[in-house]
Amino acid sequence: MTIVTEKAPAKLNLTLDVLSKRPDGYHDLQSVMQTVSLCDEITLQIGTGKPWEVRCDTEGVPCDSRNLVWKAAEVFFEALGENPAGLDIHILKRIPSQAGMGGGSADAAAVFRALNRHYGEPYAPLELAELGARVGSDVPFCVIGGTVMCEGRGERMRPLDAMPGCQIVIIKPDFPVSTPALFRAIDSEEISIRPDNASMEQAIAAGDLKRISGLMCNVFEPVVSKDHPEIRRFRSIAMACGALGCQMTGSGSACFALLDSREKAEKLADVLKAEFSSVFLAEPV
Ligand code: C5P
Repeated sequence: MTIVTEKAPAKLNLTLDVLSKRPDGYHDLQSVMQTVSLCDEITLQIGTGKPWEVRCDTEGVPCDSRNLVWKAAEVFFEALGENPAGLDIHILKRIPSQAGMGGGSADAAAVFRALNRHYGEPYAPLELAELGARVGSDVPFCVIGGTVMCEGRGERMRPLDAMPGCQIVIIKPDFPVSTPALFRAIDSEEISIRPDNASMEQAIAAGDLKRISGLMCNVFEPVVSKDHPEIRRFRSIAMACGALGCQMTGSGSACFALLDSREKAEKLADVLKAEFSSVFLAEPV
């Protein structure tokens, strides 16, 4: 039996635009995604000689074939044409669920990377990402990580220059958001403000954190914040504490702020802790 460990960094959407509904029911997106240091940790025991098992101490995480890590392992071994003779996947969870931070996708991506390493890198990173698309929309990005322009359902990826180093404060408000319901809601609304992804790419290439912060835009945020004043409250606290910009990530409900110093980030986190139960500090990775 071999034990393999892998970090599973969370994702944030610096921009998120919903373009059109496709015949398959999904939507074409355009989004600049970024991995951050807030991460789960995956431990695989390969060749346990026992039935497959998924273990996680966090409540609400499915510990069976419904978990994306299970699906990732199935897809990997099917493609490889091997049987691992027993597999145990342990998930140490730090990324909040129902947050728009791709927690389940990050775990699945970590399983792909860990298995690929264990079996001597049979797949190049983009091939591995392609396998990831069979598991979930955000998995291909999570396999690659970094700063990436993602299109289609998320499977068409163009790596960008790494975004400049900065401090990120993340909150996870207590309410969950249903992603399918949010897509339905946005189908019935006129989207009035969309991200300028071309300018965002230029700002990233120039390493201009201030400009990046000003160009952040997520078309889902106005829809969610209409019913949830917590998001507007987060914005006003973050900006008053010197954030360069802030935004909801993915379909929410987590929101993040970008700052240019650790000191300001720690101060903001302290202020937020008085009102929000889940507050995290992170950096781009
Ligand atoms: O891919 P994931 O399982 O996260 O998607 C959850 C739901 O969100 C889908 O079933 C679909 O209703 C919606 N969705 C979509 N277009 C996307 C991604 C998700 O309509 N690109």
